[in-house]
Amino acid sequence: MSGNFLVEPDSPSAEPLRALRLALEARFGSRETRGLVFTSPLPGDGRSTIAANYALVAAHVQRPVLLIDADMRKPSLHTMFDVPLAPGLVDVLRDRLDPWEATHTFPALGNLHVLTAGSSLPRPGDVAASPAMGDLLEKAYADCESVVLDSPPVLVAADASGLASHSMTEVVMIMNHSGKRRHLASALRKLTVTEAKIVGVVVNREGALTGDF
Ligand SMILES: Nc1ncnc2c1ncn2[C@@H]1O[C@H](COP(=O)(O)OP(=O)(O)OP(=O)(O)O)[C@@H](O)[C@H]1O
Ligand SMILES: [Mg+2]
Repeated sequence: MSGNFLVEPDSPSAEPLRALRLALEARFGSRETRGLVFTSPLPGDGRSTIAANYALVAAHVQRPVLLIDADMRKPSLHTMFDVPLAPGLVDVLRDRLDPWEATHTFPALGNLHVLTAGSSLPRPGDVAASPAMGDLLEKAYADCESVVLDSPPVLVAADASGLASHSMTEVVMIMNHSGKRRHLASALRKLTVTEAKIVGVVVNREGALTGDF
């Protein structure tokens, strides 16, 4: 991907994301994975950019895709899609709202639905593994082909493990091309200890995206 936040799904720059989608689709078929937690070892690795663009490309060719900003510590999808931060995930969980009432759709972006992070919370770490989050994902899996979750970095917070603890939910690990292998190894270890299922590692670099799925 190049400079722009959001790619045109049919463009050559979206090709690596289409390849990722095909690789994941093969996996969905065999393992019934519906939720993908995009995470990385450290801040700034490109989690939000890759998650948003992956969701965009997936929504272009399949049934509805829900993109959730589950990085409640540093939300960014509301900025990327230019919509209000709240109401969003936190509000849906706290007030037991119908998630579809809080999601945003965009005429130009096909089947993509975006749920922002929502109101701020004193302890965002409590949300990821909560039963309410599990219920929300179950609801979303009933209505959507897939749910894409942006999340905090693994070496900073346990949220990605918590999100991946729900059924039919697996992790896509982003590695920045200039990131350190030992950070990647620590992050993968941390997730493995909590028995999170890891789909594979995506290497993010400006202008390119490669993966080992
Ligand atoms: N493949 C890419 N091509 C061009 N720019 C990119 C790419 N990936 C990320 N960026 C840029 O790098 C910066 C960090 O990316 P992003 O916000 O997606 O990372 P993050 O891991 O979500 O960060 P944070 O820890 O702040 O949540 C952003 O300015 C984004 O536009
Ligand atoms: Mg981010």
